[in-house]
Amino acid sequence: MTDTATILDMCCGSRMFWCDKQDERAVFSDIRAEQHTLCDGRSLVIDPDVVADFRALPFTDGKFSVVVFDPPHLERVGPNGWQGKKYGKLNAETWRDDLRAGFSEAFRVLKPHGVLIFKWSEVQIPVSQIVALTPEKPAVWQRTGKNDKTHWISFVKSGPAHELGSVDSLLQYATNRIVELERLLLLDAPETVWPAEVNMVYAQIENAGALPAHHQRRLKYHINRMWLEKMPVPAIVTAARSLAVAMENYA
Ligand SMILES: C[S@@+](CC[C@H](N)C(=O)[O-])C[C@H]1O[C@@H](n2cnc3c(N)ncnc32)[C@H](O)[C@@H]1O
Repeated sequence: MTDTATILDMCCGSRMFWCDKQDERAVFSDIRAEQHTLCDGRSLVIDPDVVADFRALPFTDGKFSVVVFDPPHLERVGPNGWQGKKYGKLNAETWRDDLRAGFSEAFRVLKPHGVLIFKWSEVQIPVSQIVALTPEKPAVWQRTGKNDKTHWISFVKSGPAHELGSVDSLLQYATNRIVELERLLLLDAPETVWPAEVNMVYAQIENAGALPAHHQRRLKYHINRMWLEKMPVPAIVTAARSLAVAMENYA
């Protein structure tokens, strides 16, 4: 486990389905830490990084990109049976509230747009009763295993669209600004007779005479507008010089 882990397995058990049981990208948590010898002599080691109850996880909101939730799926197990040791057991009185709280905690610790991978074995309790315990909408749902009883359901936490990628939103902003500036520079300016004040300012813009005729018209149009808005003449000259420089790039 590292501080920068991006995956939480909130019911890790003996990490049976992990490709790498020591995966550094993950935090493994479970409500118990214990060791058993199974009937075939193999040992079962449940050794979470964090001992925690999935109904009240000790992690901050929005910490993980991926959460794995594989809770116990059996209400009835033999007192010394291997299934209870491997998978744990649901509390027959409270399992609905327990799993509801588990879902809610999973989505709390997920980042916006993060993915929850949920597993359910439909041996004693129908999966329809389980997905009804969260208001979130499943995205991908695959059945596997003997008689298709194992359900792998993935959910994507909702979140504001602008958090999908800050680069995308910056690019969009920049594109909008460019289009706006182009409109300003390339507006349709009519052929007209400008007041003497406009020509007086225009005469101070060094490179103006070298611009194509349509840009010269646009430049005079902007000078006139600034004049009508009662901008001080030095400010109009400065703004017109910048416009003329920008227009050279669109000549
Ligand atoms: C189906 S097993 C998980 C198996 C695991 N995915 C694996 O690959 O080995 C369910 C696990 O949930 C744990 N568990 C049961 N109640 C829990 C709770 N309230 N909080 C956290 N873990 C819990 C059990 O101890 C058990 O190890």
